Amino acid sequence: EMDPQERAFQERINANDKIEPKDWMPDGYRKNLIRQIGQHAHSEIVGQLPEGNWITRAPTLERKAILLAKVQDEAGHGLYLYCAAETLGVSRDQMTRDLLSGKMKYSSIFNYPTLTWADMGAVGWLVDGAAIMNQVPLQRTSYGPYARAMVRICKEESFHQRQGYDIMMKMANGTEAQRKMAQDALNRFWGPSLMMFGPSDENSVHSAQSMAWKIKMNSNDELRQKFVDQTVPQAEYLGLTVPDDTLRWNEERGHYDFAQPDWDEFFDVLKGNGPCNTERLEARNKAWDEGRWVREGLLAHAAKKRAAAAQ
Ligand code: ACO
Repeated sequence: EMDPQERAFQERINANDKIEPKDWMPDGYRKNLIRQIGQHAHSEIVGQLPEGNWITRAPTLERKAILLAKVQDEAGHGLYLYCAAETLGVSRDQMTRDLLSGKMKYSSIFNYPTLTWADMGAVGWLVDGAAIMNQVPLQRTSYGPYARAMVRICKEESFHQRQGYDIMMKMANGTEAQRKMAQDALNRFWGPSLMMFGPSDENSVHSAQSMAWKIKMNSNDELRQKFVDQTVPQAEYLGLTVPDDTLRWNEERGHYDFAQPDWDEFFDVLKGNGPCNTERLEARNKAWDEGRWVREGLLAHAAKKRAAAAQ
């Protein structure tokens, strides 16, 4: 039997009320949101690394300016999301510590390397495309600060996705070597992009409760299918081949049938054994350590100002 406070809370959720920071909420709701928003924030921050890798090597000044702006946007997304998580009573310092120690997760996708310039296209097109597919419905999520953060993030993610597709168009319609590079990027990023939506519904431990609380609006498999349905025609338009021999339009279902990604690989990446897990955490730890003097300087400055104001 549900306690009356929890029942009233569930009724608010069912009525599509937004839950705000000072409202009563079940501990599980708070914990689950801190986990999801925290992981999401970390993904934005770590997500700067694979693309940051190409800023100095972008082929033109224009491409460099665009990529730089995009990577800065990702940092901004991380910051709004840390703020949203902080309204639930966890500090950004704590979340940062838990990222740096490997205790908190970030998206599996960012543990793959970006080997060629075409990967900037594939990341924008597929990774940001998958991110939007997942985040547009989160604009309606039940927790107010998270839902509101999603509005701006989704606008910026759409620009990211378009810039990625634009790179893919250039590459796919370029020289034979460029076309091959584009195909190779699609080959490597297809499976990992499908994994971004999380494990299959039957292996998704959080989905049932998160959907009942409208922390999540759709199941992992639902969004994965939507992503495939949207992306296959885009690959066809590019003249590229999705690396899946079983891929075919299923007239009856009104969806594409497609092969599942390699779930053993996914769980292995989650355990820390992906191609770049160690490198990513080392890069974040290095940035944190090297930024120490900035943090100390800012704290000393704030203390001085407080002391002056108190006189
Ligand atoms: N990468 C890393 N971990 C993952 C991934 C993934 N792609 N998918 C699932 N997991 C983890 C979950 O965090 C969970 O682990 P935990 O209990 O230790 O936290 C476990 O696998 C089981 O998965 P689910 O029960 O399905 O987890 P959940 O309900 O949280 O669903 C999802 C996962 C869909 C990613 C959800 O958290 C979500 O929608 N998050 C918000 C969006 C987001 O974080 N996007 C990040 C990438 S986009 C970007 O940054 C550009």
